[in-house]
Amino acid sequence: MTDTAGKGFGCTDEDTARYAVQLLSQTEGVLAGIRERSQAAGLPDIHVSAADGRHLEVIARAIGARRTVEVGTLAGYSGVCLLRGMGPGGVLHTLELDPRHASVAAETFRLAGFESQAHVHVGKAADSLARLSSEGPFDLMFIDADKTGYPDYLAWAADNLRVGGTVLADNVFLWGALSTTSKLKDASVDAMRRFNATAVQSPRFTGTLLPTGEGLAMAVKIR
Ligand code: SAH
Ligand code: DHB
Ligand code: MG
Repeated sequence: MTDTAGKGFGCTDEDTARYAVQLLSQTEGVLAGIRERSQAAGLPDIHVSAADGRHLEVIARAIGARRTVEVGTLAGYSGVCLLRGMGPGGVLHTLELDPRHASVAAETFRLAGFESQAHVHVGKAADSLARLSSEGPFDLMFIDADKTGYPDYLAWAADNLRVGGTVLADNVFLWGALSTTSKLKDASVDAMRRFNATAVQSPRFTGTLLPTGEGLAMAVKIR
């Protein structure tokens, strides 16, 4: 696929992708052990990739985030990346439905030395977000949980990020389900289309879809 200027979208050359993934996948410290600990505890292997973890860390640092909300904790892999990016003054509120996932994550944050900076909220994200409103405004929100919830999480961001605050969201290509030829027509397709449209251009956000393997939306709250 090329646009009208003849430019593609994302890296389609396998060897170049291999080069970049290798360069971006050098994890050290606690990050290197999270996937194994998570698998041993029986959690699904759906953490962000090492490369996407690096994107989160660099973006959190670039925008100077101090207060971040994450929807979808799992074992804490992406949370550690966000905390690394925020540095010593950073605070992460991370929301997780499954108490088993939350307890693996709590151990991750302890091992990473982030115990006092990471707050794991167990329950439906919608309920936790309603309670967190009083703690805002926030600098950054990372959305990576139930895909049908993305539009509501974005609406929360519109009301609870500071102007200039940033939303990141994983899996916004929905594994091919947004393509015009996809046969999948479930609620997540409609939800992700609405999410992407609002994140990219709407009265309160200007954003883009970064062509990572699974699609990483990045939007800035403009008013
Ligand atoms: N961000 C994590 C991966 C998250 S996987 C990482 O990259 O390391 C998605 C997580 O969202 C799962 O742990 C799942 O239990 C959780 N989840 C799903 N629906 C949810 C909801 N409604 N509220 C809160 N968490 C939810
Ligand atoms: C799934 C969810 C994710 O957030 C992800 O990055 C990969 C897979 C899933 O629900 O299968
Ligand atoms: Mg994801």
